[in-house]
Amino acid sequence: MDLVEEVVLVAGRDLVLRRPRDAEDLVDDAAFGADEFLPYWAQLWPSGTALAQAVAIRSLGGRRVVEVGCGLGLAALGAAMAGARVLATDWAPGALALLEDNARANGLEVETLRVDWTAPAPLLARGPFDLVLAADVLYERRAVAPLADLLPRLGGEVLLADPGRPPLDEFLERVGTVWSRPPLHRLR
Ligand SMILES: C[S@@+](CC[C@H](N)C(=O)[O-])C[C@H]1O[C@@H](n2cnc3c(N)ncnc32)[C@H](O)[C@@H]1O
Repeated sequence: MDLVEEVVLVAGRDLVLRRPRDAEDLVDDAAFGADEFLPYWAQLWPSGTALAQAVAIRSLGGRRVVEVGCGLGLAALGAAMAGARVLATDWAPGALALLEDNARANGLEVETLRVDWTAPAPLLARGPFDLVLAADVLYERRAVAPLADLLPRLGGEVLLADPGRPPLDEFLERVGTVWSRPPLHRLR
């Protein structure tokens, strides 16, 4: 993989993040044919940065945190910075391997699990979690039903970051919120 290094300032600390130079290079026609898989994991999305900033300033010592659809996993790294025990999940194995490398390179610990949120039994078996994180996971309408079912079942506090994509309103109507300060929403 052709990787570039990016420095991201999170809660006053420089995190060095290696990511694919161009996500387009990773498009695989066979994977797209099988499950409309596109390598969205390979980009750093603004919602992931916003969520990382929000959790990194918390005091999460010893808390169990899970990130769903972690991609490059900046929010998971932010939670690890705050002292949490973090499980980062995605269906893309490349994302998880790179996140493990990035965590190590930054002196942080993040466990990973490959799981598809439409078949979440292995993830539910690892719960419950104190804090559930998800950033920019509602970019397709097909994600609304499985995530509306899954996220509230994973733990106590659920934080979603979303840039206001079209499926967001339907999703929030289904699950309800405790508060919304876009791009962040705490789910009920
Ligand atoms: C737009 S990216 C956001 C990545 C990261 N959270 C961020 O904000 O930078 C969406 C992520 O959801 C993951 N994803 C999409 N469908 C999934 C599924 N059915 N199960 C698990 N992960 C999925 C993708 O692989 C990708 O990493």
